[in-house]
This record gives sequence, structure tokens and C-alpha cells, in this order.
Amino acid sequence: MKGIVLAGGLGSRLKPLTKVTNKHLLPVYDQPMIYYPIQTLINAGIDDIMIVTGGNSAGDFLKLLGNGKDFGLKHLNYAYQEGEGGIADALSLVEHFADDNPICVVLGDNIIEGSIRQAAEDYRHQKTGAKILLKKVHDPQRFGVPELDGDRVLQIEEKPENPKSDYAVIGIYFYSSDVFDVIKTLEPSGRGELEITDVNNHYINRNAMTWTELEGWWSDAGTFESLLHATNLVAKTGANKITDAAAR
Ligand code: G1P
Repeated sequence: MKGIVLAGGLGSRLKPLTKVTNKHLLPVYDQPMIYYPIQTLINAGIDDIMIVTGGNSAGDFLKLLGNGKDFGLKHLNYAYQEGEGGIADALSLVEHFADDNPICVVLGDNIIEGSIRQAAEDYRHQKTGAKILLKKVHDPQRFGVPELDGDRVLQIEEKPENPKSDYAVIGIYFYSSDVFDVIKTLEPSGRGELEITDVNNHYINRNAMTWTELEGWWSDAGTFESLLHATNLVAKTGANKITDAAAR
């Protein structure tokens, strides 16, 4: 399985912090934000990783991460997203890199306390379709929200006014290589983006979606409140970050 970290976008909700730099380079406690999703992949046993970036300071990722030595990697791959096409548009850029393998996609502003190793293992056995991770939240309106019927997801609504559950679809997704064909069928949403929620609903409609609940805390970090929340969580309990002194 290959790993993808999506780290593009303009980070508009964090302006002026993102006026000259990329959101994913901002600090979350003692590390740049992008360190956390990379470590999430590595902890799940996924070490062939591509970073998709764009917007401001795209070149700084190369300077910061290089070939991934601080993470014990020998090599890192990069792709550049032009414009503001959304998460699914960014994902379409990794088709060549994925090379018919299943992928695990992590949004660059999603930080978790624990590990997704078991979910990755389950998806390796699942082999086809897609898998999402859910987490109970007090403000589901901010996220993709699933409507559930026991083990089944019936649909996902993106930022609904009246959420059908108190779960958020977190920004960690598993897809088979047919995801790129799915993306080619998408139309831009009201906010002019190709939505990852539309990709997920496609798999749901095909009865090819599974989900599990994430253990440990999860936070996004794309707004002032969530960035502060994530920073405090990392400071208090630590995240799945690099412990190797070489990284310092
Ligand atoms: C995106 C997805 C949303 C998901 C969230 C997780 O939202 O569209 O479904 O719940 O990431 O962080 P965005 O941060 O682009 O508004």
C-alpha cells in the first residue's frame, strides 16, 4: 500500500498565518504540522509516500523534508497541485505514483493520538472498495458526516446543517486503485471543488465502503480554534510523532 499526504490549498481559514506560507508548515506544538500525517503513515507500516502540495511556499517542503531521512525513509515523492481544485483533484495527481496499488490518503492537517495500523491491516484484507475512519465529535457540522445503520454507512453529507449523526469522517481514507476512475466522474461542488465526500459516496452507493471508529483523540488544524486545540492536545498527551533524537 502506498501513502499520500495532501498538503496543498491556500489555508484561507488561517489567514494571515497562511499569507506567505503553507498551512502544513505551521507549527503544531513542537513540530511542523506535516510531520504528524507522515508519521501516521509510517506507524501504519506505509513507507512509500507522496506529498501533494501547492499554493504558498511549495518549495519549502523539499527543504524541510528532503528525502525523509528524519523519518527513517530513504526516499520521498512530491507532486505539485496547480490551482484550488479541492481534495479529490489533489488526489488525482497521484495516479501514476499509485501504479495500481491500494492507497492510504491522509489530509495534511489531520493529527491523531494513536495509530491506524489495525485499520490499514483490515484494509489490506478487504482488498477492494474503500474504508473510512469515524470519530465522535461535538461539532459535526464542520465535517463530512455519515448517516449510519449499524455497520453500514448509508451516505455522507459534507458540512450538513442538520447532521444525521454525531460522527465526523476524519481525513484518513483507504482506496483501491479504481479511485482515479471515480474522480474522473466528479463534478465540482458548490464551493468549486472536487469533494472527497463525493468519492466516498460513490463507494457507498456501490456497497463497497467499510468504516471503523478511530481510537484516541483526533483533531484537524485548519482553523484557529482547531489549530490551538491540536497544539494543546499534542503538548498535553503527545501525538504519534517522531521520538528519534535524529529528527531534532
Ligand atoms: C475535509 C473533508 C471533510 C472531512 C475533513 C476532515 O474538510 O471535506 O469531509 O471531514 O476534511 O478534516 P475541509 O477541511 O476541506 O473543510
